[in-house]
Amino acid sequence: MHSFHYENGALHCEGVNLNTLADEQGTPLYVYSKATIVDHYRRLAAGMSELDCQICYATKANSNLSVLNLLAKEGAGFDVVSGGEIFRVEKAGGAPGKCTFAGVGKTRAEIELGLEKGIYSFNAESEAEVAFINQVAGELGKVAPIALRVNPNVDAKTHKYISTGKSENKFGIDFEVIEKAYERAAALPNVKIRGLQMHIGSQLTSVKPFVEAVEKVRPFVEALKEKYNIEFFSIGGGIGIVYEDTLASGSDSWWEAQEEKPLTIEEYASQLVPLLKPLGLKIILEPGRFMVGNAGVLITEVLYEKRGSAKTFKIIDAAMNDLIRPALYEGHHDIARLKEPTGEDNEIVDIVGPVCESGDFFAQNRELPGLDAGDRIALLSAGAYGFVMASNYNSRPLPAEILVDGEQAHVIRRRQTMDDLVAGEVIV
Ligand code: LLP
Repeated sequence: MHSFHYENGALHCEGVNLNTLADEQGTPLYVYSKATIVDHYRRLAAGMSELDCQICYATKANSNLSVLNLLAKEGAGFDVVSGGEIFRVEKAGGAPGKCTFAGVGKTRAEIELGLEKGIYSFNAESEAEVAFINQVAGELGKVAPIALRVNPNVDAKTHKYISTGKSENKFGIDFEVIEKAYERAAALPNVKIRGLQMHIGSQLTSVKPFVEAVEKVRPFVEALKEKYNIEFFSIGGGIGIVYEDTLASGSDSWWEAQEEKPLTIEEYASQLVPLLKPLGLKIILEPGRFMVGNAGVLITEVLYEKRGSAKTFKIIDAAMNDLIRPALYEGHHDIARLKEPTGEDNEIVDIVGPVCESGDFFAQNRELPGLDAGDRIALLSAGAYGFVMASNYNSRPLPAEILVDGEQAHVIRRRQTMDDLVAGEVIV
């Protein structure tokens, strides 16, 4: 289900008119649809229902407390990558016992926190880390549940910055040596081997690399089950979403409205469930983007038009500090005018932000409906890796975040103030 659509000439999120909302809350403004997030969670859970499957939502994708709380209530566990994320998950009502703790550089304080809270599994990414977890657990008189992250050396065919499953990436332990790493881990007194983890990359638009990786690793998972009686196999996150032509066109179902269906849950499940079911293990999934990506937009207002000799620029009040994906990954975000377009006033423009960098753009040479100063647009598919990657660069206060639930719009993070910008700073 996709909850962004035009109604009476204005873009709505569920039952909320986004232009009215922006009048009240100002811009730039992140807006999320509760119904979409819940629908995505349930769709994935239903697709995998033949398995003993635990969805551990990748907290990093969107870690607002209300979003986490929503998913916790649906039954999600969480994949966390820092002490801060453990703190957030717990505050949001998530159960640490359903959390996996990933990341190549866990600190002593983070390991201690994970142990204290009773994290389900520390997913370790190197032998040095396993040794350190063993040491810290020993000092606290505890046994740490661990899994090793295998790097299966499979090409995820995604942007190089978000590909993680190749040997040249910093993630996981090479497939060729992981068996020995398990043997050494098994000999340590303060760790207990609980599973195996992998994650080959993000924004995968085909099921093939997932299948390739699972097929490659499966015999090893069977051997681990035999030898160490492991409980789970995590195949990570990475399910890609559609970033283009994302507005529903008449159909209730966003999925059905898609002409380009890079990776549907039906396909993901139908290819992977038969490979995973015979293992007889708990299967963990760590989706982030799939849950929240298409559930969020960033609303922004056109400040100025600037017609140069080569280009027409529309300067908006959102910038790369608010949504960095275009600048960092050349990520595409569809742009929708809040006032429904007629198709008659289209022009080719660049959409740029106010930050002093040439990389601060959201669209280049894109055909968009006419935009005058004061018009508002929505940068679509901004629910994942949007607000969480925002910064105060150029001393720009962070936008507010809104969660829409039917006709109701809840402020789930207030807009930062000027005082927030300098909080914690001192003049010596
Ligand atoms: N599990 C692990 C171990 C991960 O490293 C990640 C993402 C996920 C799960 C969730 O992946 P997802 O289902 O969201 O694809 N900022 C980038 C994406 C970075 C992904 C990092 N790891 C972007 O905006 O495209």
